[in-house]
Amino acid sequence: MALIAVADLRRLVLALLGQAGTPDDVAEVVADSLIGADLAGHGSHGVLKLPSYLRDIAQGRLKPTARPFVVDDAPATAVVDGAGGFGHLAARYAVDLVVEKAAHSGLAAVVMSHAHHTGRLGGWSERIADAGLIGLLTGGEGQGPWKVAPHGGTDGALATNPVTWAIPRAAGQPPVVLDFATSMVSIGKLQIARAAGAQSVPPGWVLDAQGSPSTRLEDFFTGGYLLPFGGHKGFALAVIAELLAVGLSDGDRFAGAERSSCLFVLAVDPARFGPPERLHDFVEATVRRLKAVPADPDSGEVLVPGEPEQRARAAADGVVLPDATWRDLCTVAAGLGIDAPAAADASVAADASVAGGAESIPAEGTA
Ligand SMILES: NC(=O)c1ccc[n+]([C@@H]2O[C@H](COP(=O)([O-])OP(=O)(O)OC[C@H]3O[C@@H](n4cnc5c(N)ncnc54)[C@H](O)[C@@H]3O)[C@@H](O)[C@H]2O)c1
Repeated sequence: MALIAVADLRRLVLALLGQAGTPDDVAEVVADSLIGADLAGHGSHGVLKLPSYLRDIAQGRLKPTARPFVVDDAPATAVVDGAGGFGHLAARYAVDLVVEKAAHSGLAAVVMSHAHHTGRLGGWSERIADAGLIGLLTGGEGQGPWKVAPHGGTDGALATNPVTWAIPRAAGQPPVVLDFATSMVSIGKLQIARAAGAQSVPPGWVLDAQGSPSTRLEDFFTGGYLLPFGGHKGFALAVIAELLAVGLSDGDRFAGAERSSCLFVLAVDPARFGPPERLHDFVEATVRRLKAVPADPDSGEVLVPGEPEQRARAAADGVVLPDATWRDLCTVAAGLGIDAPAAADASVAADASVAGGAESIPAEGTA
């Protein structure tokens, strides 16, 4: 593992994005989202993604200067077009719009389509909760790629369709956050595991190219598929996530070269249902009740959703990157004549980069 100071990594990301023609203010949104994901322990949605973004810019699949805009507006709703640009920018635009509308209406929904990758969705629901509102986002891809098979199926027909909810807590307390892919694991975590030398995945995670269950990690990367988490229940959630995000935004009309990541974004003002303090008190009482339950010895302790990410952030003394991720970034930087900052060996800080999921796949063996 490599440990890089946040400011150094941010400078490098901004330089790489700038070199690719990204305006400074847009590059800052993208850099903060990527590094925020790394700091939250989700390296799958951190700077690992940057080389693929730069490739997509070079191939015309991502327009670095594009800015999202509203195509349909009403007091409590809006439809946003991501204009083929960075999904982080379009997601933040949609989130800020929904917050503004919900502050007036008590409840608001915005849909967004025609954007590139939207990053760690939890960062966007947290932004809604930071404004004192309850946030919900679901994501889907117009026109694929379909790397997730439906429950009971043998071929890809879904994306990893993420879902996130964030519930605000009393001032100074981080929100309760649910945030995950509806597939068994995100594709980025399989990439990290593969780069670290993992060869197998647990049963029930992937199908091979013929649609047969497999525990070989490589089978996913050679035409295979992920499965939804939680059998028919995760599958059902994946379908609803897509119908809301892609269906309401008409996001599958952008067939062809450009990517059309889509979002459904909902914000609810708890103050419209009673004093916010009542919800805050209930959240605290619920958290206390959950954490008072004796822990299963194998798990160690009961955590509240969102707590692994808070702990990863609190423990972070810089950004801890897998060696392969850091090597890839340095290679891209060298190719563009940009100096990469020095990284320290982060073997002692490695735990800070793990918030569950596939980073825990052993590098060798049969897990
Ligand atoms: N933008 C996209 O298109 C896209 C697509 C898929 C996934 N993603 C992102 O990928 C990231 C990772 O997804 P994932 O499916 O690997 O997430 P994951 O399986 O690591 O689950 C994370 C969620 O589970 C909670 N959690 C983890 N361990 C817990 C515990 N012991 N007790 C209580 N709660 C716990 C976390 O707080 C978080 O809410 C997410 O941020 C997601 O938004 C984005």
